This record gives sequence, C-alpha cells and structure tokens, in this order.
Amino acid sequence: MTADQIFSVQGKTAIVTGAASGLGFAMAEALAENGANVTCFDLNEKRLAAAAEMLRAHGGQVMTFVGDVVAAAPVQNAIAATVDAFGGLDICVANAGISDRGDGLFHDREPADWTKVVDVNLHGLALTNRTALAQMMAQGHGKVINVASMWGLVGASGLQPRPAYSATKGAVINLTRELGVEYAPYNIQVNAICPGFFRTETRPKDAAQEAAFCAYTPMGRIAEADEIKGSLLYLASAASDFVTGTALVIDGGVTAA
Ligand code: NAI
Repeated sequence: MTADQIFSVQGKTAIVTGAASGLGFAMAEALAENGANVTCFDLNEKRLAAAAEMLRAHGGQVMTFVGDVVAAAPVQNAIAATVDAFGGLDICVANAGISDRGDGLFHDREPADWTKVVDVNLHGLALTNRTALAQMMAQGHGKVINVASMWGLVGASGLQPRPAYSATKGAVINLTRELGVEYAPYNIQVNAICPGFFRTETRPKDAAQEAAFCAYTPMGRIAEADEIKGSLLYLASAASDFVTGTALVIDGGVTAA
C-alpha cells in the first residue's frame, strides 16, 4: 500500500468542533484537502463562514453549524444533519476548548471561570463524544479524536498557571483511555492529541510570550498550525486502525524533558 492509501480520508465524513480558527481550522483543512466531507461547528458565526469558504476552495463538501458544544441540541442537530447529508459519520474531532483567564493563585481565581472551562473542555467534549459514538455504534465503525494538551500530562504552572485547563485536559486524556477500551470491541477507535505550543491567530500574544514558549520547548521553537495535520490524518485514517485509547503528544519535546 502507498502512503496515500494508508493515510487516506478520501470520501470520509467528519465533524470538527471549534473549526472556525486555530488548530480546529487546520484539522478541518487537512480533512478537506484530502477529500473528506467536513461539518464545521463553532460558536463564532462570522469566522465560521469565512473558514468554510476557505475549505470549499479545496473542492470538498463543507457544512457549517453555529452552536455551543456545551448545549446538547446544537451538537445533536449538527451530527444528525451530517449523517443525513453524507450518509454517516466516520470521524469526530472534538477540538473546541478554552483556557483559564487571568493570573493569580488558585484560591484567588473566580469560581465562575473554573466552571466555564470545565463546561466547555470537559462537558462539551463529553457531549460531542456521546453524540458521535451513538452514530458510530449504529453504523459499526468510527474514529473519535479528542484534542487535549501537553498540559493534560504535566502541570502548566512552571510557565503559566492554568488550573482548570490542566485539570480538564488531564480528564480528557483519561476519558479517551476509558472510551478507547469501552468501544474497542465495536470497531471504534478513540484517541487524543496533546499539542504543545502552536501558533494560532491568538497565540502567542506577543514576542515576549513567543520567546518564553520557545525557551520552554526543547526544539527551541513553537509549531505552526499546519504541523497538526499529520497527526490528525494518522488518527483519522486506517493508519491507526489498531490504535485506541492513546494520547499522541506533539510538543517539540516539552513533556519528555
Ligand atoms: P482557538 O481559540 O484559536 O480556537 C478555538 C475555536 O473554538 C474558536 O473558533 C472558538 O470560537 C471555538 N469555541 C470555543 N468555545 C466553543 C464552544 N463552547 N462551542 C463551540 N465552539 C467553541 O484555540 P486553539 O488554540 O486553536 O485550540 C484548539 C484546541 O486545541 C483547544 O482544545 C485547545 O485547548 C487545544 N490546544 C491548543 C494549543 C495551542 O498551542 N494552540 C496547545 C494545546 C492544546
């Protein structure tokens, strides 16, 4: 088999949450560039429309849904409409995520901020997984890819305290292990991606932050958003058919150091 065949997503159908920008957009683009039908789900209507236009330029079929991953109905509607339009759901990329705001010690932080991060990063992702898994069980196959973080494997406080973010990303990794084992007998693979520092529209926020990220990373640089694409295609394609419950780390060596 050629590499093209092993990593093929041609003709597959995917949903990507948080697809309007950053890593979600890069992953949606990797799927669209390689012949998949992609449903893009995001809170931000304006950015979502612009993202979909860019994706359609690759020639694939793209649907958009505006909604919050924390609410059941929008996620369920998006997946139901995807199945109606494309005949199934092969790949679910649960990517939408947010981080703690502000600084300060844990006991001084706003409780509402904790709740918001847990809602989006954990409850929203779990809801996306549940809805996708119901469809994947009905059709007898599927791949769920949960976007965690290197801060789900080690604490972030050495650089920038992010207690809710680290807690939820750690939970995403263990939920992925749990679901990977639970759905292993059903031809459904559930895996996580753990990115390190990636450049997006909003990060790094300035040159000083970029320098700090680079200094913290053994490779001495941050990743470009496109560098997520290879790992995404691996976990979305038959290349990873015997891989489940794993956390694929893409961090330039941070968590190995
Ligand atoms: P981003 O902020 O650039 O994009 C996130 C997208 O998700 C936005 O379009 C936003 O509108 C959408 N979104 C946020 N909350 C939502 C909700 N409740 N419902 C629906 N859509 C929502 O973020 P970025 O950096 O691209 O991150 C994407 C994922 O990758 C997140 O889960 C993040 O934790 C993870 N990650 C990012 C890293 C990075 O260096 N950029 C490093 C490690 C993990």
